[in-house]
Amino acid sequence: MPESEFQFRDGTLVCEDVDLSAVADRFGTPSYVYSKHAIVSRYRAYESALAGLRRRICYSVKANSNLSILDVLRAEGAGFDIVSGGELYRVLAAGGEASSVVFSGVGKTEGEIRFALQEEIHSFNCESLAEIETISRLAATLERTASIAIRVNPDVDAVTHPYISTGLREHKFGVDIATAEELYCYAAKLPAIVTEGVSCHIGSQLLTIDPLIEAADRIITLAERLRTRGLPIRHLDLGGGLGVPYRSSDPALSINALIDHIGPKIRALDLMLMLEPGRSVVAEAGVLLTRVLLTKQNGGKKFVVVDAAMNDLIRPALYQAHHEIVSVRQASGREHIQADVVGPICETGDFFARGRVIEAVEAGELLAIRTAGAYGFVLACNYNSRPRPCELLIDGSHISVAKRRESYEDLVRGESLSTIVHTDLETA
Ligand code: LLP
Repeated sequence: MPESEFQFRDGTLVCEDVDLSAVADRFGTPSYVYSKHAIVSRYRAYESALAGLRRRICYSVKANSNLSILDVLRAEGAGFDIVSGGELYRVLAAGGEASSVVFSGVGKTEGEIRFALQEEIHSFNCESLAEIETISRLAATLERTASIAIRVNPDVDAVTHPYISTGLREHKFGVDIATAEELYCYAAKLPAIVTEGVSCHIGSQLLTIDPLIEAADRIITLAERLRTRGLPIRHLDLGGGLGVPYRSSDPALSINALIDHIGPKIRALDLMLMLEPGRSVVAEAGVLLTRVLLTKQNGGKKFVVVDAAMNDLIRPALYQAHHEIVSVRQASGREHIQADVVGPICETGDFFARGRVIEAVEAGELLAIRTAGAYGFVLACNYNSRPRPCELLIDGSHISVAKRRESYEDLVRGESLSTIVHTDLETA
């Protein structure tokens, strides 16, 4: 197992110093279990890679937005990359400083922009002329100044799953690098706007560093040109995207190669380097713990039906993502079977693995779905009226309930039996 925070001890999978079968007995399943140490160590790897530079590492809240995790990262000195008012609310609720927040996203509402301006976030990563004009207007009204970067689309192929690749010209994200320069010059003249940064994000789960280097080179060149034109460019934001090894054959990528390449240029230009890592900070820190409900055979196929489902972890269904699945208790000499590991939801897409060779498990046994700390719980929903799992944060031998399991009452909270009737709207 590559991550040291999840290991087998006396034949049982532990997270740090906690036995995961005891966790399942106490807190039930399905449950997300996170290792605090894993999160901290991965964040610190970024800190040390960027040590010689002016820097701000803005954890990408979308990867896992639980308050406990934001709190751990805040205590480490992280800033935050947000994409909604809700994420800003979470950062503030976790005690984060608004001044450490960068607001990304292709479609920000006026309400969200106003909220961010009132809280005085660090900067906005803007993706269109229309957005910059709106920010200018709202900032002027609120008598605030907005620091902006334009998210440039460097037209680099990120070589990842098409749903999470964002850096090509045909994608909805960012502004074409060819037109970005003119947009910067226009934006610089707008009221209440300071054009202080250049940003990009070319995609997620990148398993080679080369596209990031290529994108960085292109936006550094743009930053230099903008400075020549008199714009006060002070920071460069290279987004997130570093992949993690979901399979043991995947490379374990490090940010060091990128920093070795661009560090001298960044230093020479006295730019602050910003990064927005999400997945690479939290993915390997989490597992989804699930219990086998039953096994069955249909035709020639074996199925292991577990109590977690696609509503809890949608990555396999949505991106054909691979997650390692291991038995929490290892038994020596156990047979292996080839099976589909599926959830109970009424959808054929409700699977965690197909045709996977796993240990022959029986009803009642526990499985851990690995590398589930990023884009796991945050993408969970209540489909089939399934309460969402609890989230547990392990620190040594301590377990804290980062989010309690939802109840049936939670499922219907905010709903009504048609008792609230509005008669004051115009009728067609
Ligand atoms: N910055 C921006 C502007 C982003 O759009 C993203 C991710 C990040 C940073 C963080 O990227 P990371 O370091 O996590 O790769 N749900 C998908 C991933 C979607 C990523 C969206 N943007 C999945 O489960 O693979």
